[in-house]
Amino acid sequence: MVSATPSNSTEAAPTCAAAIEPTQPIRIVHGMVVLDAPRVAAVPGRLGEYEVEARIARGGMGGVFLARERRTRRPVAIKVIDPELAIHPDIVARLRDELEVSRRARHPGLLEIQAFGRSEEGVPYLVMEFLDGENLGDLLDRGRLELGAAAAIGAQVASAVAALHAAGVVHCDLKPDNLHVLYQEGLAGWPATKVLDYGVAQIWGRELEDEPSIAGTPAYMAPEQWRGQAVAGSDVYSLGCVLYEMVTGAPPFGGTLPELMTSHFEALPLRAAVRRPGLRLDLDRLIGRMLAKDPALRPRMAEVARSLALVAQELPSPSWHADTFAWAVLAAG
Ligand SMILES: Nc1ncnc2c1ncn2[C@@H]1O[C@H](COP(=O)(O)OP(=O)(O)O)[C@@H](O)[C@H]1O
Ligand SMILES: [Mg+2]
Repeated sequence: MVSATPSNSTEAAPTCAAAIEPTQPIRIVHGMVVLDAPRVAAVPGRLGEYEVEARIARGGMGGVFLARERRTRRPVAIKVIDPELAIHPDIVARLRDELEVSRRARHPGLLEIQAFGRSEEGVPYLVMEFLDGENLGDLLDRGRLELGAAAAIGAQVASAVAALHAAGVVHCDLKPDNLHVLYQEGLAGWPATKVLDYGVAQIWGRELEDEPSIAGTPAYMAPEQWRGQAVAGSDVYSLGCVLYEMVTGAPPFGGTLPELMTSHFEALPLRAAVRRPGLRLDLDRLIGRMLAKDPALRPRMAEVARSLALVAQELPSPSWHADTFAWAVLAAG
C-alpha cells in the first residue's frame, strides 16, 4: 500500500502527486500523499477451515479470493493481507474494524463480514459472504447506465449507507469499485446492489488516532474529507459523484490530484443534464444538491434513498434474465 513513506524532514514531498490516477485510493498522512497501490497476492491454497480456489481481485493491501468451507463446500470470499504488510498493526487494525463495522450494521445492501482469522503463518484475513455479481466499476468501464438502473442502484446503495449512518459509521470510500451489482433481482426489476469495503470507514465515538490521516479516493472525495473532517454528508457527496458517473459516464471532476482537489473545493460541476440530455430534472437537481460544497446543504442519505426509489419505480424496468445478466445496462453513447 505504501509507496511513498511520510517523513518529518523538510525535503520536498514525493513528486508522485501529478501522476496519481483519480480513481486510485490515497491516504494523506501529515500532509503527505501515500498511495494505496494494488499489489499482487499469491493464491494461498488453504486458510484455516477454508480452501482457496481463485483470486477475485487484487486490492490495496492484498487480495480477495473465492474460497469454500471444507466441511460444507459453502462459498465465501476471503480478503487476505499481504504477509509483508501484515506486520503493520495499523493495517491489521483496519481489517478488524471492517468486521466491527459489519457487526454494527446489518442491512440487505451491506456486505456481511463473518469472521477475522489468521493463517498458521500469522497472515490475517477476513471471511465474507461471497457476492455473485460484478463490480460497478467494471460495469461502468463499458459505458453509462440506463437511467432506471442508475436510480435503482443508487437507491439501494443510499438505503444501505443510511443504515450505516444510523449505526454511527461513515463509509468514507463510496465509489464504483466498492459497489457490487449482483446477479439477483433487486429494486424495481433492476439488479440488487451491495456496498462493500469498510477499510477506511470511520466509527463515531472512537478516540482519534494520534496520527491524523485522511483516506479516500480523490475523484469521489468531499471537500471536508480532504481536510480530514469526514461526516455522514461526505458519503452523500461521494454517492452524488457515483450517480453523476452512472448517468454521464464520468465523475464530475477529473485531472491531476491538485486539480481534483481544487475542483472539489471550488468548482461548480457541469450539470449532469448537460452531459446526459434527457436526464429527468428531479434527478439532475438531486445530484446537484448531493454535490453541494457545504455538507449542511446536502440532503440526508435516507432522503436520497427515498427520492431515488421513487424515480426508479417511475422509469421503465428491464426484462429480467438473471442467467445472461441481460438487463445490461448500458445505453451506448
Ligand atoms: N465478498 C465479496 N464477494 C465478491 N467480490 C468481492 C467481495 N469483496 C470484495 N470483492 C471484490 O474485490 C475487490 C476488492 O475488495 P475491497 O474490499 O474493495 O478491497 P480493498 O480494500 O483492497 O479495496 C472489490 O472491488 C470487489 O470487486
Ligand atoms: Mg475497495
